[in-house]
Amino acid sequence: MIKNQVELRKLHDEKQTDLLNAVFETQESERKRLAEDLHDSVGQVLSAIKLNLHRLDKIIADKQPLLADTRQLTDECIQEIRNIIHNVLPPVLTDYGLKEALEGLCLKIEQTTSVTVNLKKKLDDVRLKPEIELAFYRIAQELFSNAIKHSDATVINLTITKDAGWLVMEFKDNGKGFDMSDVKHGFGLKNLESRVQLINGEVNVYTKPKNGTITIIRVMI
Ligand SMILES: Nc1ncnc2c1ncn2[C@@H]1O[C@H](COP(=O)(O)OP(=O)(O)OP(=O)(O)O)[C@@H](O)[C@H]1O
Ligand SMILES: [Mg+2]
Repeated sequence: MIKNQVELRKLHDEKQTDLLNAVFETQESERKRLAEDLHDSVGQVLSAIKLNLHRLDKIIADKQPLLADTRQLTDECIQEIRNIIHNVLPPVLTDYGLKEALEGLCLKIEQTTSVTVNLKKKLDDVRLKPEIELAFYRIAQELFSNAIKHSDATVINLTITKDAGWLVMEFKDNGKGFDMSDVKHGFGLKNLESRVQLINGEVNVYTKPKNGTITIIRVMI
């Protein structure tokens, strides 16, 4: 009977893993579709508008401030769309790998928020398995998002280390921290745990109210 129970549990765990894998795969392919659609539809139309405005600018003899202003707005809009596409599906991750993608992410956070980000990488240039790269990137995105949304941090230290067969990411904010037992879990932390579980990794969160938060993710590679 015990043997049967162990077998049953194993089957149940395998099914759970398959299910989670399917959920994340669907999510990633939806993201890809959204990014491609945005690029091909809205992006194309905006480029056409930009071109027309440029032509108008040439036809009209005297300079129109309203036209210049509209051209500027169109440029901003194109940039915004580009940012959204890159956020949804960072091409740098698939093309150049985790190291470059994290550099880009940290830079973007520094440019768009008032938080100082210190990134330390002890990584070589060897590419990791795609599922590990994607999981670590999505986890870093969620941790940044949480730190910015909830913590009032002014400094974030992100360290990524590859050593003795382990990949370890340490994400530390100097924000207000939280009480793990008394917090309403959103999708973010649940998703994070599932992603870590799927790559057979482990996650530890150390936080106390007023004392910042450290999240450490480890996976054997
Ligand atoms: N770095 C942090 N500093 C302070 N509080 C945090 C931090 N990270 C998470 N929390 C707290 O933990 C809660 C749960 O986080 P979680 O990411 O699961 O959900 P969320 O960010 O509220 O929503 P979602 O991620 O679904 O958009 C947050 O609402 C917040 O109270
Ligand atoms: Mg969150």
